[in-house]
Amino acid sequence: MEGGRLVVAVDGPAGSGKSSVSREAALRLGMRYIDSGAIYRAITHYLLGRFGSLEKGKSYAEFLDGLKIDQRFEPDGSVRTSVNGLDVSRAIRDEAIARGIGAVSDDPSVRNFVNELLRSWSARESLIMDGRDIGTVVFPDATVKIYLDASVEVRSIRRVAEYREMGKTVDVNEIRNQIIRRDQEDTARPFGRLQKAEGSFYIDTSSMEKDEVIERMIGLIAKADGPRVRDGRPE
Ligand code: CDP
Repeated sequence: MEGGRLVVAVDGPAGSGKSSVSREAALRLGMRYIDSGAIYRAITHYLLGRFGSLEKGKSYAEFLDGLKIDQRFEPDGSVRTSVNGLDVSRAIRDEAIARGIGAVSDDPSVRNFVNELLRSWSARESLIMDGRDIGTVVFPDATVKIYLDASVEVRSIRRVAEYREMGKTVDVNEIRNQIIRRDQEDTARPFGRLQKAEGSFYIDTSSMEKDEVIERMIGLIAKADGPRVRDGRPE
């Protein structure tokens, strides 16, 4: 605990269920939930609006100057993300964002900008934050670190179901390929790549119900217990 505040870092690949279980655990525990991926999505949305398309390897640092990003965790468990006062919560879930996000989340200046923002939000309250590098880079001293995993198949099915819930029709194979590509991007980037933080609790959710995962997380937060990651591998 940092000064009485609790910081729970939840990392894992696309579709591992991080955001839905973290959000629900935060609600039940009365903590704030922060969706760091939504911040990368919001910046991608903003830059796509400005440039139309994005280039890998380009630095977007100068365009972040003065950019105002906010995120609210509502009492009903929804997350509202805004850019310069404009609510982009729905727009950032578009597939075009997932396609363009690699160029943005690979940019070290974007990563530094996001990390500073995320840390500034932790100053006041206890929180659960999910992402790729929360336990490794953003909060290496987090009170509890959790790594959520699931097979590519299970993650693809979950992602398709999420799109369907939003009323969008998507192709299962395309989503599967996108997940594989994003796994590659997430694990290969030089800064803030996805890896199991030392000392994190490893949960393979492939054959778990959502509620079971939430209960497990809450149990771990209440009492730091369970198989930990050592040398990058689950025990
Ligand atoms: O929902 P999903 O897990 O697919 O992704 P997300 O959490 O919304 O994050 C979107 C993208 O942002 C990911 O594919 C990562 O490339 C990137 N990201 C990141 O680089 N670092 C984070 N802490 C969170 C997300």
